[in-house]
Amino acid sequence: MSGALFSGCTQNSLDKRSIVFITQPPPHSPILSLNGVSKRYGQDVWALRHVTFDVNAGEILGIVGKSGAGKSTLLRCLNGLEIPDEGCVSFEGRVLKEMPPVELRDQRRRIAMIFQQFHLLRRRTSLENVMLPLEMAGVRSNTAHEKARACLDLVGLSHKENAYPGELSGGQAQRVAIARALASDPHLLLCDEATSALDPETTQDILALLAHLNHTLGLTMVLITHEMAIVRDLCTHVVVLDQGRVVDQGRVDEVFVAPKSEMTKSLVQHLFNARVPRVVMERLQDTPQGAKELVARLFFTGAQAAEPVIAGLVRDEGMDVSILGGTLDPLGGTICGTLIISLPLKEETLTRLNHYLTPKGVQVSLVGYAP
Ligand SMILES: Nc1ncnc2c1ncn2[C@@H]1O[C@H](COP(=O)(O)OP(=O)(O)OP(=O)(O)O)[C@@H](O)[C@H]1O
Ligand SMILES: [Mg+2]
Repeated sequence: MSGALFSGCTQNSLDKRSIVFITQPPPHSPILSLNGVSKRYGQDVWALRHVTFDVNAGEILGIVGKSGAGKSTLLRCLNGLEIPDEGCVSFEGRVLKEMPPVELRDQRRRIAMIFQQFHLLRRRTSLENVMLPLEMAGVRSNTAHEKARACLDLVGLSHKENAYPGELSGGQAQRVAIARALASDPHLLLCDEATSALDPETTQDILALLAHLNHTLGLTMVLITHEMAIVRDLCTHVVVLDQGRVVDQGRVDEVFVAPKSEMTKSLVQHLFNARVPRVVMERLQDTPQGAKELVARLFFTGAQAAEPVIAGLVRDEGMDVSILGGTLDPLGGTICGTLIISLPLKEETLTRLNHYLTPKGVQVSLVGYAP
């Protein structure tokens, strides 16, 4: 994700940084720690079970999982809205549930949130929406105006300061919401499905803006999403939740290349999956009877480049491989993707394919047989 995608930031935005952010924690210092966090609803619904991970300053953590995995519950525990039944959440070294209410309130000001539905006040202009947290913190009117303008400038929306939410596009409304989040000098930005209501192009714009803010301001972010593509495009780290448990965690490239859980494998595989061309699909049969070709899907999540593997099949195994389709994406210097191949059906073709490719870290699955 490059800043080039983010076109709205004006030349003097960097100067405005000093108005917007006075202090950020030093990079790589721990900012958020979860230690054995469990949360139960009623007698037997464990929304979170023994969740443990750290977030360091400057990181962008994606929390991913299917519906009901516990993502929103986790986010509410992170911002102190929900108290874990077991374990604890520490923000900047202090355990949230042990803090006196007044201190907790001050601490929570350092944690800003943006939502899927923006949550802007309809009767306030963009500028007035951004000023809201400043007014609530008792900031003087002149200072609040200046800061809100600087925040709107940072998100490339100075020209819309007098517009009401009803006059903004979805992407512009989310930019105002991000500017409002920035106004409270956050050390952590929590994003709850922040792009789910936006079209793909606007989603890319908002992701680019978030990446830009992370790069230029060093702002730490935790975002929840059900889309692995967002994790791939924006995040430095990922936590995968399945039924309230962490089933994978770590740097995005490491988790994508060597997923530990079946859940993560299926999410990653889905992301890099290539469609079998329709003309091929129409010819396929389920059984080898009368078939001359075998069609297989090769899934790469490692350092093995596709080309040497295919070349190896031809050279070492004497297989006559044709590539029917595929997607390959570089990720952290490695290649992820799928190739759909066909090869003449002989005795034990699939067994030999597996035998040759599995030790090389390539997963093989049978798509079907063609006459
Ligand atoms: N207030 C509540 N009362 C009872 N059960 C709840 C409550 N909030 C969440 N749950 C349950 O906890 C589990 C996790 O819910 P949560 O909303 O955190 O999932 P999620 O990953 O955010 O799902 P989605 O992607 O659909 O938003 C679910 O089984 C849900 O039914
Ligand atoms: Mg949710």
